[in-house]
Amino acid sequence: MKTRRKELRPDRETLLGGLAPADFLREYWHKRPLLIRQAVPDVVGRLSPVELRRLAMREDCESRLVRHARGRWSLDYGPFTAAALDRLPRRGWSLLVSGVDHHLPYAAALLQSFGFVPYARLDDVMVSLAPPGGGVGPHFDSYDVFLIQGHGTRRWEIAEQDDLELVEDAPLRILKRFTPQQSWVLEPGDMLYLPPRLAHNGVALSECMTWSVGFRAPSHQEIASAFLDYLQEGLNIEGRYADPDLEVPSHPAALPAAMIERLGAVIDGIRWSRDDIVDFLGRYLSEPKPNVFFEPPRRAMGRERFTDKVGTEGLRLDPRTRMLFHGSTFYINGERLVVPVANRRVLVELADRRALPPKALPDTLLAVLYDWYKSGYLWPGACPPAVS
Ligand code: SIN
Ligand code: CO
Repeated sequence: MKTRRKELRPDRETLLGGLAPADFLREYWHKRPLLIRQAVPDVVGRLSPVELRRLAMREDCESRLVRHARGRWSLDYGPFTAAALDRLPRRGWSLLVSGVDHHLPYAAALLQSFGFVPYARLDDVMVSLAPPGGGVGPHFDSYDVFLIQGHGTRRWEIAEQDDLELVEDAPLRILKRFTPQQSWVLEPGDMLYLPPRLAHNGVALSECMTWSVGFRAPSHQEIASAFLDYLQEGLNIEGRYADPDLEVPSHPAALPAAMIERLGAVIDGIRWSRDDIVDFLGRYLSEPKPNVFFEPPRRAMGRERFTDKVGTEGLRLDPRTRMLFHGSTFYINGERLVVPVANRRVLVELADRRALPPKALPDTLLAVLYDWYKSGYLWPGACPPAVS
């Protein structure tokens, strides 16, 4: 996909309406909604309805189509054919494409401009398209969201209600009762922040596109069960059950008390440390989404050319790459790498800025970067190639 204008990071000054990120986090984050007029004026025109439809037709894009007709909601998953999208009626639908930041450099830059929140908490940029009257119905989300108005206008209604009962048998989460307490009409470039679990409803007033910057808030259940999977993979416990003191049971079907004790002690003996937890979190939170597959460059340049290019043009992480670190341990797309202290500073810069300016780098570091380049995790040059 081609961008019409040069990639441009949204202006940090306007993003929070002049509010310092620390003040925003203290006063609003997780607490109350905030409307910021003209927070992201340059979002307009970054993605046309035609381009969004094209994304919804792609295999490697997660897209959904929500329809509402005669009081009934329906939900279909993409990819969609051009014919299916052409057949859409004039009203009563909303097309949602997730992970737009993987395909559009501007959306990746937009997501990164929310870096006042740790990257481990950033999820993706979703863009929706709806005709007048369209929307996904009143609902609440389990995570924080910034709703940015692209083209067209949309009325957002919110309610601080404890009643979060959902419509039964609906294929998506629709609130059974919703009584708006406050509403705003968002114009192109305006942004509304909503904390988790705040009931909201967005209705398009004209054909409109909404960009949602969403956050990652794994449930405790998800984290605990993924951690147990992680532990299980590395588990290697010696020994086997034995009962040299076995006595004839009065009930052969009863679970032997000695067995419960002995095996209980084996299970109680499973231990893990903070280091295991850090390693699990680094791998798990840097794991790409299931629909992301990295491919090696079609015609990979040799190591020497790569070194020259990095020295003259710098490099950039692929927009789909997730890179996190803890101390001198780096996690990239689910893989772990411990680096010597001398290489740490540059890799921290790469992880934080998701890019490195042109510079000469030590050979040991270039070897690592070249491997990542061959895995498709990063690209030499100022701008990653568009994923087409
Ligand atoms: C939308 O873009 O229509 C939905 C965004 C949301 O309510 O979270
Ligand atoms: Co929502």
